[in-house]
Amino acid sequence: MKIALLAGDGIGPEIVAQAERVLLYFKQEGLKIELEPGLLGGCAVDATGKPFPEATRKLSVEADAILLGAVGGIQYDNLPREKRPEQGLLAIRKTLGLFANLRPIVLYPELVNASTLKPEIVTGLDILIVRELTGDIYFGKPRGIEYRDGQKVGFNTMIYSESEIRRIAHVAFQAARRRSGRLCSVDKMNVLECTQLWRDVVTETAQSYPDVTLSHMLVDNAAMQLVRNPKQFDVIVTGNMFGDILSDEASMLTGSIGMLPSASLDDRNRGLYEPIHGSAPDIAGKNIANPLATILSAAMMLRYSFNEETAASRIESAVQKTLKQGYRTEDIYETGLRRTGTVEMGDMVLANLQSQ
Ligand code: IPM
Ligand code: MG
Repeated sequence: MKIALLAGDGIGPEIVAQAERVLLYFKQEGLKIELEPGLLGGCAVDATGKPFPEATRKLSVEADAILLGAVGGIQYDNLPREKRPEQGLLAIRKTLGLFANLRPIVLYPELVNASTLKPEIVTGLDILIVRELTGDIYFGKPRGIEYRDGQKVGFNTMIYSESEIRRIAHVAFQAARRRSGRLCSVDKMNVLECTQLWRDVVTETAQSYPDVTLSHMLVDNAAMQLVRNPKQFDVIVTGNMFGDILSDEASMLTGSIGMLPSASLDDRNRGLYEPIHGSAPDIAGKNIANPLATILSAAMMLRYSFNEETAASRIESAVQKTLKQGYRTEDIYETGLRRTGTVEMGDMVLANLQSQ
């Protein structure tokens, strides 16, 4: 298992270091894990002038899986767009064909009070957002800012081909089949042709999955329903931009975006695994960031890319036990519990792995 470690910027190196310790623990237990660090994002711009340098491209193409921290920082905000750290992330997703982004939105019972929503709304919450990741307005052309009739105009292109919609729909139907058998596809077909096609193709794909119940929802309504009654959802499938927005919204149902892992997979389950949160430059280097989303991303890696279900579940149980014991980073802290730093959180997860 050749794993590229791309720690990135801000809190990235701190949280990836804790996930690395967890992976090394399994290596010592006998899994054939090889870890290789690389540069992506702002740190890569600093070192090479490019957010996704050739060496990182090579490392990522050759790796069986990638563990990523986060990219971005205010010091890069004035760079030309092609040099922004985010471009490194978009480029690696596109280059590796990582079109299927799985974002599980799971509330740990221990964190029910950390959510801003009432306990009865979120208790037992377990949603999977399947976000298309290599198409849509993120990559569509033409795009740009130019002069038209004496003033600047900015424009992007929302575009999906049938085949792009079909392949993400298959991923979502298969996920729904493994779960409760319910899939909700989110679009804006009342306004946007691109998403009319989305709805048509998803509906057509449903014929291959008679055991899955498909529903459709407009994105504005979905945004509302996610905070009104989130437990009505099981699997949600949507395009790149709607998925970006809805997954941040959904993350807060679980108490903290600092808890949520993600997997971005190609058609052979080769993948990039990353927490869904950003680089949080304001808390970087202070040993207060929550490493659990990254540790849980390593668990997803073991499950999806390496079929190591036992190791993956063991990590998830160790995380849950750590929460049960009352250890809390700043983002999920509640009075009376144990305020814990980034490294100490890693220590506790490791201790709980060892004692299993
Ligand atoms: C995410 C992030 C990225 C995205 C940014 C950093 C480019 O918000 O993974 O959700 O928009 O996809
Ligand atoms: Mg996002």
